Amino acid sequence: MGAPREQFGSRLGFILAAAGSAVGIGNMVGFPVAATKNGGGAFLLIYALFVFLICLPVMIAEMSVGRHSRKDPLGAYNQLSGGETHWKVAGWLSIITPFMIAVFYLVITVWLFGYLFQSVIGNLSVLADPATFGDFINAPSLFLYMVAVVAIVYLILQGGVKEGIEKGAKLMMPALFVMLIALVIFVLTLDNAMAGVEYYLVPDFSKIDASVVSAALSQAFFSLSLGMGIMITYGSYIDNMADVPNSAKLVALTDTAVAFIAGLLILPAIFSFNPATNAADLSDSSVGMIFSFLPKIFLALQVTIGYLGASIVASLFFLLVFFAAITSLVSIFEVPVAALMDEKQYSRKKALGVLGLLLVVMSVLASMSFGIASFFTEFVSYAGQTKSLFDIIVDVFYDTILPLNGLLICIFVIYRWKKANFNAELDKGAPHYKGSWFERYVDFSVGTFIPVILLLIFINTVALKFF
Ligand code: PHE
Repeated sequence: MGAPREQFGSRLGFILAAAGSAVGIGNMVGFPVAATKNGGGAFLLIYALFVFLICLPVMIAEMSVGRHSRKDPLGAYNQLSGGETHWKVAGWLSIITPFMIAVFYLVITVWLFGYLFQSVIGNLSVLADPATFGDFINAPSLFLYMVAVVAIVYLILQGGVKEGIEKGAKLMMPALFVMLIALVIFVLTLDNAMAGVEYYLVPDFSKIDASVVSAALSQAFFSLSLGMGIMITYGSYIDNMADVPNSAKLVALTDTAVAFIAGLLILPAIFSFNPATNAADLSDSSVGMIFSFLPKIFLALQVTIGYLGASIVASLFFLLVFFAAITSLVSIFEVPVAALMDEKQYSRKKALGVLGLLLVVMSVLASMSFGIASFFTEFVSYAGQTKSLFDIIVDVFYDTILPLNGLLICIFVIYRWKKANFNAELDKGAPHYKGSWFERYVDFSVGTFIPVILLLIFINTVALKFF
């Protein structure tokens, strides 16, 4: 064995890094839009229940597998299963899935960086023009933005776990909280803000049906960065005395709080300007929300707070979402990097170089899905729809394989690695956990209904998406 495994320097550092992974674009816009469209407070309640009853136990399972094996996900499955071939498949899925999600997440982060840059130089009227987004995502200059974003991710990861990931999170996460709160306070002072809050929060249970329930669970699962090998990998960097169950609780709580507070920013902003029209066409995708809808509102702010004020608000908003995206991107890219380091004994630099290059190539190809090259725009057809390369990556890896990975880790932990080993690992840093009702709940849920629910979601997605 070479050098001892890298570790986070402190419990807070680990929690901020894991929360940095969890808090992402999904929290900032995905959640507020989903909640508003699907019953407001009613959705919120279901979402929160899913976070704590279903997702938290899975997060604890992932972290404990990482900490016990002290390996990347591929190595972890391998080691804890005694090298069984079929568990190798689960290991590979936990490496390939994050890489492919990193490809599409990078594409969106690059757009964010571009919008951030344009806001900082005061180009709000261009950003608010409905034609801009379509042109922007096909512009060759995008490549420059991509180089910048990849360089940032590279610089952070090259510093390693403590000096890179942890330092980055300690810098960006507090900044993110401050910007979020400052923006919320600002939008709450705008006209009609309270109408937006009301629209966001008033529960409408009549909107809740099976598809809303399943959307809430998928949103929660994605938001907590589960099924991507991330919590296994970050778990492999925490020390034996760390309290895994409590750390996971804090990460889940932070993530949910940020998602909730983001709604207090987005909805009042929407209502402050043209409330009736805006409420009616609340765009259905979070991507449309960030890149087409909100820039119009930032531009409209010029009337009340002037050009400089509006540019500052827009820049802060894009910086906020950009920080959220970068800490997530760093966490997801660390998974294949750790795998190359563990499995092939690559140095961190070499692993980053090889995978970084591959990431750029794949992301450039995926970026061509929006019109530049019809080969990628109309890549294949299934279920009667023509899909671009970007769509396929989202359909296959994000929508379908994530729940499958979640299902596999649950079965693995309870039935292959075994409950007693799982609990012994968790008890190490958390004496309060041993024999507690929470421990019994985690064991029971991870071994029974959680995998069943994830299996149903998996089957349903496959049926809906591909047939
Ligand atoms: N939790 C992230 C979000 O809400 C999801 C994510 C994590 C995506 C890591 C990519 C990488 O956006």
